[in-house]
Amino acid sequence: MPDYFTYLAEFTAYKRHVFREVLAPIGGGDVLDLGCGPVGHYWALGYITRAASLTYADRSPTYLADLAAQIDACTPAWLLEQFALPLAFLAAERGVPMAALAQDLAAAFAEKPMRSLPCDFTTDDLGGPYDAILSVEGISCAHDGAHLVAIAQRMRAALRPDGACLGVWLRFGHRDAYVQSLIAQGLESAYNPSPEEMREAFAAAGFADITVTTATFPENGNYAEAVCYHVR
Ligand SMILES: C[S@@+](CC[C@H](N)C(=O)[O-])C[C@H]1O[C@@H](n2cnc3c(N)ncnc32)[C@H](O)[C@@H]1O
Repeated sequence: MPDYFTYLAEFTAYKRHVFREVLAPIGGGDVLDLGCGPVGHYWALGYITRAASLTYADRSPTYLADLAAQIDACTPAWLLEQFALPLAFLAAERGVPMAALAQDLAAAFAEKPMRSLPCDFTTDDLGGPYDAILSVEGISCAHDGAHLVAIAQRMRAALRPDGACLGVWLRFGHRDAYVQSLIAQGLESAYNPSPEEMREAFAAAGFADITVTTATFPENGNYAEAVCYHVR
């Protein structure tokens, strides 16, 4: 079975969507990446220059150690070599030269406070308060509506009063063998809520300002539907 995280190797329309819809709205302040896996640095390319600090949380010590090593490796040259396509995209979006962006990103990774938080986010203290809680496919472990409400309540409790949760949930079309394997690894659940069920869960958790949008990416095969949320 291929490693789930190899999906980052290609810079697809879905990833451009995540950079635009989920990461660009992060205004700054203290950021928590919930369920960061070993790839939190990749998504941080989209916001780390604006952040005051980054806390990256996962229940896997291996993923957290891998991520810490990647963050340590983030020199300008390494970023340009590893992430040429996302950097070209972000430089064009911001109207800045790619080399200057790589310098700024490397400085941000080196200088801003970074904290690794090993935790089970369904039960453990999330720290904070944060200005933004980001979760890229991170809370997909919620196994039913009540569980999603409980996770959303914990996220809300870790936010500053004007803070926001931003994330994306990839919905599967059918429970094929790959979906089953992700469920078995704790990277996915069988719940697969509709956009309306997500909206209801965030409302039940006490969020007042809820935006949930859906976009379709055939390139993602059985995971074509991406549901983005921005709640405060
Ligand atoms: C589908 S992966 C997404 C990872 C990453 N954000 C990305 O963009 O690829 C879900 C991540 O959430 C973590 N995770 C799942 N349930 C968790 C829990 N209850 N507490 C903490 N982390 C959890 C997994 O270890 C995994 O790294």
